[in-house]
Amino acid sequence: MCSTTRLLAFIALLCIGTAAAADVDFTQYVNVFQGTTGGGNRFPGVVAAPFAMVKLGPDVQSGSTDAYSGYLPNGNIWGFSMMHESGTGGAPKYGVVSQMPFLGNLTNPLVDISQPRATADVGQVGYYKSSLSNGVSVELAATEHAGLYQYAFPSSMANSIVVDVSHVLPSFRGLGWEQHYSKGSFSFGADGKYEGSGTYNNGWNLSPDWTIYFCGRFNQKPTSSKTFRGTGTTLTSYDTTTSVSGTQRLGGVFTFASANITSRVGISYISTAKACQNVDNEIPLQTSLSSLVTKAKTRWNAEVFSKIQISSTNTADLQLLYSSMLGMFMIPSNLTGENPGWTSAEPYYSDIFTLWDTHRCHTSLFQIVEPVAYEEFVRSLIDIWRHDGYMPDARSSNFNGRVQGGSNADNVLADAYVKGVRGAINWNDGFAAMQTDAEKTPPNNNDPKAPDSSTKEGRGALPDWLKYGYITPAFTRAVSRAVEYSANDFGLYQVAKGLGKQPEAQKYLQRSRNWRNHWNPLATSNNHSGFVVPRLANGSFVTQDPLSCGGCYWGDAYYEDNPWVYSMNALHDVGELKNRIGGEDKFVDRIDKLFDLKIFSAGNEPGFTSPFLYNFVRGKQFKSVERSRGIGKLYNAGTGGLPGNSDAGAMESNILWQMIGLWPLTGQTTFLILSPWFSDMTIDLGTGKALKISATGGSKDTAFYVQSLRVNGQQWTKSWIAWQDVFANGGTMDFVLGPTPADWATGELPPSPASGDHDKWARGLVLS
Ligand SMILES: *[C@@H]1O[C@H](CO)[C@@H](O)[C@H](O)[C@H]1NC(C)=O
Ligand SMILES: *[C@@H]1O[C@H](CO)[C@@H](O)[C@H](O)[C@H]1NC(C)=O
Ligand SMILES: *[C@@H]1O[C@H](CO)[C@@H](O)[C@H](O)[C@H]1NC(C)=O
Ligand SMILES: *[C@@H]1O[C@H](CO)[C@@H](O)[C@H](O)[C@H]1NC(C)=O
Ligand SMILES: *[C@@H]1O[C@H](CO)[C@@H](O)[C@H](O)[C@H]1NC(C)=O
Repeated sequence: MCSTTRLLAFIALLCIGTAAAADVDFTQYVNVFQGTTGGGNRFPGVVAAPFAMVKLGPDVQSGSTDAYSGYLPNGNIWGFSMMHESGTGGAPKYGVVSQMPFLGNLTNPLVDISQPRATADVGQVGYYKSSLSNGVSVELAATEHAGLYQYAFPSSMANSIVVDVSHVLPSFRGLGWEQHYSKGSFSFGADGKYEGSGTYNNGWNLSPDWTIYFCGRFNQKPTSSKTFRGTGTTLTSYDTTTSVSGTQRLGGVFTFASANITSRVGISYISTAKACQNVDNEIPLQTSLSSLVTKAKTRWNAEVFSKIQISSTNTADLQLLYSSMLGMFMIPSNLTGENPGWTSAEPYYSDIFTLWDTHRCHTSLFQIVEPVAYEEFVRSLIDIWRHDGYMPDARSSNFNGRVQGGSNADNVLADAYVKGVRGAINWNDGFAAMQTDAEKTPPNNNDPKAPDSSTKEGRGALPDWLKYGYITPAFTRAVSRAVEYSANDFGLYQVAKGLGKQPEAQKYLQRSRNWRNHWNPLATSNNHSGFVVPRLANGSFVTQDPLSCGGCYWGDAYYEDNPWVYSMNALHDVGELKNRIGGEDKFVDRIDKLFDLKIFSAGNEPGFTSPFLYNFVRGKQFKSVERSRGIGKLYNAGTGGLPGNSDAGAMESNILWQMIGLWPLTGQTTFLILSPWFSDMTIDLGTGKALKISATGGSKDTAFYVQSLRVNGQQWTKSWIAWQDVFANGGTMDFVLGPTPADWATGELPPSPASGDHDKWARGLVLS
């Protein structure tokens, strides 16, 4: 029987493929507070389903600390709002459509009415509770486009709920990325109903004004309803006027003679009518909070958690697995039908923050765990191009921005294409969208942080790329952009080849090698020579310490990592890279030095793949395994359990791949083989297919070296597998692990598709 008693994941494993697997409540293993401290910036509040638009949770103020997801563990709560991002950096976005309870009659709703917590907040999948020091508790639940607030006040004296339309998360960093409240409207009717809109701008993506509509219903009639307007903390009006609008701060205060008040609020980017429709459809009157929580758990179990099941009964492992899966799918948001001003029947996803972070290992796992949403996501990227002219690298509040490096939607589309994602995707349009990135310089948005070219979308440094085949210091982030543009052009090659566009395929394959034009063989560092460096229009290389990236930021030659790391990122051209680095021993030593010199940071995406490039050298796969295990130790399910910013789930997807024992090379069908953590793992690939990974003879923590591997029952001697081997139709990977390295991977090296006959080097035939 596959049910009841103790919910062992082992039992679930036996039940896969049967309805009973859905009965397992994997949410018991989820810590919604994973990665909420130490810069992880995860959102712990209510996200009722994967990709839900509503992300309902507390907004906390604590000195001048930016609350990226609204939440901070310490500080006062100053509102509970319906929209947030999870695991982002730069500056907070959203924190809008809020309510805040107040004990008593409120004389001025513009003053600070924030409250400390009486106890730490409590959260589960689909549920959140804050207990304020004034004795008021707030419990939250939600659906995709609506939220439910359940307030319990200490007495039934005058109890107030404040709706402040000017509420939006601030930023204190002084980088010009703070959000602004622009204007609003608010009106209330009889019987505790209200509606209105708030308009905001800026944030990290430098968005112009955008508007969210809301519609609120209380479960009882207030004893008093008022609107207010004012500037700063100075009131202009605060009375029973039923409607206010304008650029002043504004909103409403509802007072009740009751201890228990429930509020339901819907939101929409389209209209107040749609916001009302959303709340009335999704949370009808009398809906209980607990029924919403149950629905949320059911959806996350069915749509996400049940997709990866393991034999382990180790609680820490189960918690890390399922907490990480939650973190992967809180954004982007499925905003299908919520794209104002569009006439499109295509799906629409926003809150992409950012593909620069997620294209390496998040999107490839997104495809596997959530194939239906993934196809919609890819269609949506293409539809954004149709509507806005460019695919996004990042996007929030329905506005593309910002671009840190290349146009990485190209990598994502290439990855989807080579792995056979077709469905309703119009691939001719997909390739046209990629060609726009590759050929059409986006208009300069005059970003003060990088005034040379667009940071909104596309490839700002395209003029140099097209003219020189590299990027001169006339453009900021010239070297790191060139490395990324190379990978982007490789993506175009892949799709062009698949579509039978031979001339385009040749052209973009050639362009994908342009990273080589930044390679200065004479740049030296720590006994290594050859690094990607800045290059002038006259062809000269600029002297560059490969250990330094200057400020490593918007105005510098390298973005957020140094030449050592960016010099390892020609992942489609590793054969040539090995050659340039000086052969296999030097290549291995260079990866070693990333660690020995403490260059590698597990929290920074540009270096994510470097630890596993040992697989490109025969006999060295075991070193990738050692690095993988080292990285694994940096993660846990705790609040500080991510070794850096979640970056929209990039970090969580990274640890999930370590557990699986594979590493994806986005844009290629190749997966580098590491070492699985568990004796049995089953990944549900949809439509009845599964990948089953077993490991015998070893353990996660000590005896983790691969001794031998069978793939689909056959002895396997390659340090990599392809999509077709185990994902396209499902498959099995049966590992034997042991305490010491074994020379098992004696077969063909992983492909280096841009390197020509890349294996020549290994055979002693150095490429010219
Ligand atoms: C709140 O205001 C109402 C109406 O003015 C009044 O009856 C009530 O006593 C006040 N309550 C408190 C706690 O001040
Ligand atoms: C009102 O709230 C209190 C405090 O949480 C709770 O004990 C009580 O059950 C609630 N009553 C109703 C009718 O919901
Ligand atoms: C995305 O949202 C639309 C509209 O609500 C819905 O029809 C679609 O099924 C959603 N996609 C997924 C993968 O849930
Ligand atoms: C430098 O590289 C050479 C050749 O690979 C090697 O023999 C030597 O030991 C290395 N020195 C250091 C300090 O790594
Ligand atoms: C290129 O320009 C730089 C800076 O003006 C100069 O130092 C260098 O000598 C020039 N190189 C060549 C090959 O002309």
